[in-house]
Amino acid sequence: MSSVTVRVPAKVNVQLSVGPLRDDGYHDLVNVFHAVSIFDEVVAKESELVTVRVEGEHADQVPLDDGNLAIQAARALAKHAGRTYGVELVISKAIPVAGGMAGGSADAAGALVACNELWGLGLPREDLMEIAADLGSDVPFSLLGGTAVGTGRGEQLTGVPTGGDFHWVFAVADGGLSTATVYAQCDRLREATGEQVAWPQVNDGLLAALAAGDAGRLGAELVNDLQPAAVMLRRSLTRTLDAGRELGALGAIVSGSGPTCAFLARDGDHARELAAALSGAGVCRLAVAAHGEVPGAEIV
Ligand code: C5P
Repeated sequence: MSSVTVRVPAKVNVQLSVGPLRDDGYHDLVNVFHAVSIFDEVVAKESELVTVRVEGEHADQVPLDDGNLAIQAARALAKHAGRTYGVELVISKAIPVAGGMAGGSADAAGALVACNELWGLGLPREDLMEIAADLGSDVPFSLLGGTAVGTGRGEQLTGVPTGGDFHWVFAVADGGLSTATVYAQCDRLREATGEQVAWPQVNDGLLAALAAGDAGRLGAELVNDLQPAAVMLRRSLTRTLDAGRELGALGAIVSGSGPTCAFLARDGDHARELAAALSGAGVCRLAVAAHGEVPGAEIV
C-alpha cells in the first residue's frame, strides 16, 4: 500500500462542565462530545522520513515541526510498534484552526488510523485509543466519533445514544484561542469571584434530549463552563451569540474553548438559512452549516 486517506470529523461539546483544577494542571470534566460533518482529510504516503504538509484555509497557522499533533501521533505509533517508520502526511484542513472544534486532535486521530494501515500494523482500536489519550484529551473522541460522555480530563469515553440527526451552524471567528489560555482564564475568573467549584455532573436533561432527537430541548440544555472565559478573551463573541439567538437559533454556545460559536437549528433548511443570515450579519468570518452525529476517523 503506497497511500491511505482518512476522514476525521470536528466536534462540538454539547456539555462542557469543568471541575476543580487538578495537581497535574488539568481539570476533571464532564464533557459531552458530538461529532459533526466538518471534516479534515489526512493522507499518509510512503516516505523515509516523518514529514507533514498542510493545505486549506489557514493552513499557514498549523505548525509543521514536532509541535504538529499529527507528527506526534505518527511518532508515538511507531514507538508503540517498536520500529522506525517514515510517512509523508498531507492534511487538508476544513476544521477551523485553534477554533474549539478539536481540529488538531482530529489530525492526530487521522494520522494514527492512516499510519496503522500504511505500515500494516493492524493494531486494534483500543491500542490506538490509548496512544490517542497521551497525545491530547480530545484525541480519543476524534477516533471514536458519534456522541459520547468524556470524563477524567475528557479522555475516558462512554458512547451515548441519539434519537436522530441534529443540524448546526458554526460561526468561525478570525484567529484562534489557545485552549490552555482559556482554561487559565476560567480559573482566574473563578478565583476572582470566589466561586465554589462543584464536582461536574452529567446533565440528565441533555442526555434525554439527545436520546429523543429533540433539538428544541437540546438547545435549552447546552452547557459550556468555558464560555465566560472565552467571551472575556474575545469580547466580540457576545455579539455573535446574540445575533444567532435573534435569528432564531434553538441554542447558542461557544464551541469548546472557542472562538467558534455553535448554533442549533430546527432542521437542515433552517441551518442553511441561519448560516446565510449569520454570514450576512458581519458577526463572524464565515458561517458553516453541518449535521451530527457522524462517525470518527475512518479510511475512505
Ligand atoms: O489535553 P490537551 O493537550 O488538548 O489540553 C490542552 C490544555 O488544555 C492543557 O494543557 C490544559 O491547560 C487544558 N486542559 C485542562 N483540563 C482538561 C483538558 C485540557 O485544563 N481536562
